Amino acid sequence: MAKLRLQAPLMGSDERKEKKNTWSRALGLLLVLLIVSIVGVAFRENIARCILSQEKKQNGRINHNLSDIVESERGVVAADDGRCSEIGASMLRQGGHAVDAAVATALCLGVVNPMASGIGGGAFMIVRSSSTSKTQAFDMRETAPLAASENMYGSNLTAKYVGALSMAVPGEIAGLHEAWLQYGRLAWRTLFQPAIKLARGGFEIAPYLGLHISQFADMIMNDPGLSRVFAPKGELLQIGDICYNPELAGSLDAVAEQGPQVFYNGTIGERLVRDVKEAGGILTMDDLRNYQVKVTDAVTTNVMGYSISGMPPPSSGTLGLSLVVNILNSYGSFYAANRSLGLHRLIEAMKHMFAVRMNLGDPDFVDIIEYIRKMLSPAFAKQIQQKIFDDTTFPPDYYLPRWSQLRDHGTSHLCVVDSDRNAVSITSTVNFVFGAGVLSPNTGIVLNNEMGDFSIPTEKSPDLLPPAPANFIRPNKRPLSSMTPLIITKNDQLVGVVGGSGGMHIIPAVVQVFLNHFIMGMKPLAAVQHPRVYHQLIPNVVLYENWTVIDGDHIELDNETKIFLKARHHKLEARAGGAIVQLIVQDFQKPVTSTSRRIGKESNNAQVLHGTLTGVSDPRKDGKPAAV
Ligand SMILES: *[C@@H]1O[C@H](CO)[C@@H](O)[C@H](O)[C@H]1NC(C)=O
Ligand SMILES: *[C@@H]1O[C@H](CO)[C@@H](O)[C@H](O)[C@H]1NC(C)=O
Ligand SMILES: *[C@@H]1O[C@H](CO)[C@@H](O)[C@H](O)[C@H]1NC(C)=O
Ligand SMILES: *[C@@H]1O[C@H](CO)[C@@H](O)[C@H](O)[C@H]1NC(C)=O
Ligand SMILES: *[C@@H]1O[C@H](CO)[C@@H](O)[C@H](O)[C@H]1NC(C)=O
Ligand SMILES: *[C@@H]1O[C@H](CO)[C@@H](O)[C@H](O)[C@H]1NC(C)=O
Repeated sequence: MAKLRLQAPLMGSDERKEKKNTWSRALGLLLVLLIVSIVGVAFRENIARCILSQEKKQNGRINHNLSDIVESERGVVAADDGRCSEIGASMLRQGGHAVDAAVATALCLGVVNPMASGIGGGAFMIVRSSSTSKTQAFDMRETAPLAASENMYGSNLTAKYVGALSMAVPGEIAGLHEAWLQYGRLAWRTLFQPAIKLARGGFEIAPYLGLHISQFADMIMNDPGLSRVFAPKGELLQIGDICYNPELAGSLDAVAEQGPQVFYNGTIGERLVRDVKEAGGILTMDDLRNYQVKVTDAVTTNVMGYSISGMPPPSSGTLGLSLVVNILNSYGSFYAANRSLGLHRLIEAMKHMFAVRMNLGDPDFVDIIEYIRKMLSPAFAKQIQQKIFDDTTFPPDYYLPRWSQLRDHGTSHLCVVDSDRNAVSITSTVNFVFGAGVLSPNTGIVLNNEMGDFSIPTEKSPDLLPPAPANFIRPNKRPLSSMTPLIITKNDQLVGVVGGSGGMHIIPAVVQVFLNHFIMGMKPLAAVQHPRVYHQLIPNVVLYENWTVIDGDHIELDNETKIFLKARHHKLEARAGGAIVQLIVQDFQKPVTSTSRRIGKESNNAQVLHGTLTGVSDPRKDGKPAAV
């Protein structure tokens, strides 16, 4: 149920930096929400549906009457922006495979949420084909340029995070294309048209982007490319304004018509390389020509009656989740994670997991077999569980951390299930907000700053631990990541697709949503909305959510749990922020009649059960799912 507070900040603690204009619009929205609540529409799904329902959906305009949750017998797309979910759903309606929808949705997100992801970045994508039951991992993560080296940031650490030198070789276009080659049913160019239209014809600045534009005002104004797009008349665009990126439209158009070659070995790549060089980066055409997508089987962990499939390293997500869930499972009851005591155990499990995961790196460069084996092993999980006590927590040393933590940022997650029950889970990123803080003026592409995710010998981290050698820079190497796109099956039938954005908070968030729904039996929306906790091992503090999110919901851990955790010696700190999670589940208790399965190709496969699909986009970011 929604609790609405007029005096509460709209989007965390930084709203004071926003211009008055934005604030008054925001206040207006809050007022509408308040009135709606007074009228007594108690359920938050309905609130979203009721507000501003007269507002018509137009090109690039936000359709404000959409809900955080959709149900469908055919197909669902859950992204963190409603326009992009709808674009994905439109691909499914045209008979597209889940991969077609995922590509179109991801391209859209790169246009309307360019601070979080885009074709200048990279992604991890999990695809499960319902006809073969095969689950594949498409690793389109960025790689270190050929001219990169372990000590390249020795004299200037800032350059690892800010500016063109922080850019790694982009992988998104190559990876999306590879997945489309294997699974796509629609024409490649068809998938690009909606994103091109938004970039060229203009799109409305959503609250989340608007907030970041005002928060990163200096960065935008200092970069000629960013300021041309986000401050075209010398003044920063605000929530509700229309934004244009014609150069990005041109780049997308070229890739749509000529294929990824034009990016990796043609004119778009040449323009990008020229702009990067101009801005002080080291990207070359050889880097682009060398880029390779890695396609492997997904890593699968079987725990608590579910098969959970996700990315192998350099993602630490699947292995991290596997370790945490196996630790809880080793208590001998699925319900070890129930209630406040369960939360305490979960926090302890996460602290151990963060310590272990920093041994991971790119398996093409470092031998991490031993750690992969451990993190998937129930026996290892049991050993750790024996070090967890129900009455107390411990200082960081207890968890034996050896290396400083990866503290990654940003990103965007989307889930798709189509009418044949093919599924896609994809998390994409440019790393920090607006990546390197540089937009290539001739291509409209935001440069990632993924080099920031490597460890380097000279960096003093907040946790004062040595940097992780497995994650040192080598040319062509992929940096470690927290991104955790997952596909969940039970008895070889698809039951869930989940993943999140928010850097180091992704693994804890995805674990909590998984437990909430699949183990504790919370409904899909409640499982996503439920207040979450985070831990970073160092500092030794439990971060708990206490924030009023964009659509007016107040999300806060309950007092009883806070008191319980304090009694176990946890230090608690309120946080107006956290990870964003998208979730799709399939419910076989609500089976689908065969008449509604007429879109797909493989509908007659009797082995594939069809239940009702429910899609949820996290209200924290105000994304909306879409149904076919
Ligand atoms: C949103 O509003 C439009 C116009 O009023 C309507 O046609 C559409 O069905 C609504 N969509 C939803 C999901 O309520
Ligand atoms: C270090 O890098 C930053 C970001 O690229 C740059 O702005 C700054 O001028 C550099 N400092 C020095 C001393 O080179
Ligand atoms: C790049 O394009 C050239 C032709 O312009 C072609 O000969 C070459 O094989 C291409 N390289 C790659 C890696 O695709
Ligand atoms: C989990 O906790 C709830 C109360 O929060 C309780 O109703 C339920 O029975 C518990 N489940 C198990 C299996 O312990
Ligand atoms: C929780 O957030 C509200 C505003 O949303 C704020 O007034 C309150 O002080 C916060 N509580 C804590 C403990 O930080
Ligand atoms: C939680 O505790 C705070 C202060 O510790 C108090 O102001 C608030 O009313 C309590 N909330 C509930 C729901 O009991």
